[in-house]
Amino acid sequence: MKRLIAASALVLAAACTSAPAPQSGPVETSAATEPAATAWNTLTGEQPIVIAHRGASGLYPEHTIMAYKTAIEQGADFIEPDLVMTSDGVLIARHDLYLSATTDIADHPEFADRKVKRQTPLGEHEDWWADDFTFAEIQTLKARQQFDGRPMQYNDTLDIVTFDEIMDLVLAEAEKGNIVGLHVEAKWPSHYTSIGKGLADPILDAMKAKGLKEAGIPVYIQCFEPPFLAEIAEKSDLPLIQNMVGAPYAAMMGLSYDLETMPTDGVGADVSYVLDEDGQPTDFVDRAHKAGLLVHVYTVRDDRPDAPFTDSHAELKALFDAGVDGIWADFPATAVEVRGQVGD
Ligand code: G3P
Ligand code: CA
Repeated sequence: MKRLIAASALVLAAACTSAPAPQSGPVETSAATEPAATAWNTLTGEQPIVIAHRGASGLYPEHTIMAYKTAIEQGADFIEPDLVMTSDGVLIARHDLYLSATTDIADHPEFADRKVKRQTPLGEHEDWWADDFTFAEIQTLKARQQFDGRPMQYNDTLDIVTFDEIMDLVLAEAEKGNIVGLHVEAKWPSHYTSIGKGLADPILDAMKAKGLKEAGIPVYIQCFEPPFLAEIAEKSDLPLIQNMVGAPYAAMMGLSYDLETMPTDGVGADVSYVLDEDGQPTDFVDRAHKAGLLVHVYTVRDDRPDAPFTDSHAELKALFDAGVDGIWADFPATAVEVRGQVGD
């Protein structure tokens, strides 16, 4: 299942239909007198990718076209749709199957009696659930910012976005010469499988129908659930990222991860795996790279840097210095900026 990504970054960049970092913009050549650029400690030696986490979600309600467009304008290499599916099989971008945190559904009296309790991997939760609604019903909702302290003026003005619309966005960007990748996460696929509506085929079929490969759009598929990634591996040659639950929660849930036997191309690791409580690098990136794994790390937020950092610039620099291959950022402009400084 595992593909050898480190073999030749140049070949992969040229092939560039289903893998690593798009190098946006023209390649600049240095004059002979200029110092050599930083050698990145990444798996391939290429500069790490910036992944817009749910779009530029620090500025606009997450998973909206404005959030994705802004991320692209800010220079993100990849935009990240988290995907769930409606009752009639439409893939839409939402971080959770429940809808109350990021939409105005609670203000729709016509849906009041559709609020139900469900047992989730994180416990019981009462809410409105995406797969209980048709796409036509979802289209009557508007998106909302869920984090305090962020711009609220766009609340209730922006639509819920389909996977098709997101693919159209990067395809249109590619036609303008700007290659932006998709870092696609399937959310709670075991639930969909349990109701006879697996997510793997709809996601793969949707990408095929849009011609992403032919258009040269890089794609990663990520998930927290190994069986889903195994199914994608059987059905495609797309690079796979195994997301890892943060260490404290993993312990609570009885999950453990063995980097040496990980069958994917990389891991999506919480910051706490890569940096210790003093902000110093652990041995995680070295171990992952020795196992041939990319390390994409989540999530850096300007307004909520992880302890002990009080400034996301310092957190981002520490992560880039640690050799990560990619960073999910709610404020992709900051990650692009800091990467530019580290790479100078
Ligand atoms: O998917 C990895 C990254 O996005 C962090 O996870 O929970 O924000 O989707 P989450
Ligand atoms: Ca995600």
